[in-house]
Amino acid sequence: MTSVDLVFQSYGRCCRNDAFFAHFYEHFMASSDAIRERFRHTDMAAQRHLLRHGVMQLMLTARGMSDRKLRDLGHSHNRNNYDIKPEWYSLWEDALLKTIREHDPHYTPELREAWREVLKPGIDIIRGAY
Ligand code: HEM
Repeated sequence: MTSVDLVFQSYGRCCRNDAFFAHFYEHFMASSDAIRERFRHTDMAAQRHLLRHGVMQLMLTARGMSDRKLRDLGHSHNRNNYDIKPEWYSLWEDALLKTIREHDPHYTPELREAWREVLKPGIDIIRGAY
């Protein structure tokens, strides 16, 4: 099985529990005051829903789908819009991997590496648009 297949299956196990996205934002916001501040006025229920799709976009791009949607996310996150600093993306990834470890009963260090490999090109597109 390819890394992308492993990651699709892992994401399916994680998404079965809605708390996955709530826990992700708890971890992510705990990683820095500046990040918590960015979400001060955000409707977090809506944001959790949007993230569910955002992670799917990262995975579909790794599978070869057009990167247009990620370029749009790069635009909304860039210095002229949400102003998301490039160094915050590693905190985002760490929070996601931590949440996957807690939620996926089949989690292994190898699966973590598969996730990192699959997420990287998509994160690079969004961060690179800064
Ligand atoms: C909004 C995904 C990284 C902060 C969004 C949206 C999506 C998304 C799908 C809603 C659509 C939009 O407004 O364009 C992602 C993905 C990321 C990522 C896939 C990683 C590759 C980050 C990081 C931060 C961040 C590192 C740092 C704080 C925000 C904020 C909003 C947002 C502040 C708008 C919230 C609001 O409407 O109040 N993100 N994001 N994102 N994201 Fe991200």
